Amino acid sequence: MLSPCEAVRTLPPYHTPQGGRDGLRLDFNENTVGCSPCVLARLRQISPEQLARYPEREPVEKAVAEFLGVRPTEALLTNGVDEAIHLLCETYLESGDEALIVVPTYSMFRIYAAATGAQVIEVPTEKDFRFPTDDLLSRITPRTRLIAIANPNNPTGTVASQEELLRIARSAPSAAVLIDEAYFEFCGLSMLDYLREIPNLFVTRTFSKVYGLAGLRIGVLLGNSDQIRSVRHVCSPYNVNAVALACLPDALADQSYITQYVREVCEGRERLQDTLESNGIPFWPSQANFVLARFGSSEFIQKMRQRGILVRDRSSDHGCEGCVRITLGPRLHTDRLLAALQETLQELGIAQGVSRP
Ligand SMILES: Cc1ncc(COP(=O)(O)O)c(C=O)c1O
Repeated sequence: MLSPCEAVRTLPPYHTPQGGRDGLRLDFNENTVGCSPCVLARLRQISPEQLARYPEREPVEKAVAEFLGVRPTEALLTNGVDEAIHLLCETYLESGDEALIVVPTYSMFRIYAAATGAQVIEVPTEKDFRFPTDDLLSRITPRTRLIAIANPNNPTGTVASQEELLRIARSAPSAAVLIDEAYFEFCGLSMLDYLREIPNLFVTRTFSKVYGLAGLRIGVLLGNSDQIRSVRHVCSPYNVNAVALACLPDALADQSYITQYVREVCEGRERLQDTLESNGIPFWPSQANFVLARFGSSEFIQKMRQRGILVRDRSSDHGCEGCVRITLGPRLHTDRLLAALQETLQELGIAQGVSRP
């Protein structure tokens, strides 16, 4: 009987968004209102010829590189950041290698690394999900070939400083050090400036979050030109579809849309955190478009769903017992969220205060 290879047999499943997500979707860190109208206008102009041809990644790759201030040889467009993580694992990991990740974190790091047969070593965050720099440094060995870090981290929203990340990258020159900046726009902290100085450093950015293009699947892997050339060897020449490639330049051009969205999310994040604080709900100050909070009751998620708000149960993540992750959107969505939150806390008998208007 055919059976998958051993590394794959033991992989945990990733839980994707399920059908029946009726309501305000604050459960997968998506943009809650969608992309710029300029992207929708472009979509309406897609021609049959564009769909008939194999997609040409190169011109858009060039435009994205220019936008990010890197050379085209330092950028590879990917089918979402997920594919970038997958490609890095394929390029650098094999059985017997070690991959270091900090937990809790984004699940796909572990899944793609483990699928190569490499040993995944989980380094727990410190108290309050602080980045475990010293612990991580102490786990680097000659067999360490990948270190994957989400910054800001998902699901905690916490960040590691540039100094901490530089120490790690410089201490593991034989490892690909990935800094996944999927939530960059909500915090502004980046390692992009260090790509040329540190040849084993990689940065990813996604267009799934603030740009509202999760359904088109497009992201970018950035790194030293020589390393990116190696990654291209394992990448499909047509990994990014023609519709995503047609739309991305329009999405990038409308930066006022992005700035406005980020502003409203950051204001909402403050309002949510203030509300949690005044109600005595433990939470971790976030630098991303979501907040992790400990409600301690699985009923909370159900009650919010009954009020039309979907939030994500993170209680099975390392150190996240009783925790829920709530995505922020623009002002109107924050208003709906806070109204439902206040009612739910009252119903469950855990409300202590009133939310800021
Ligand atoms: C840290 C992190 N990286 C990557 C992704 C996925 O990005 P993409 O949609 O570009 O594959 C997510 C999505 O939740 C994420 O949280």
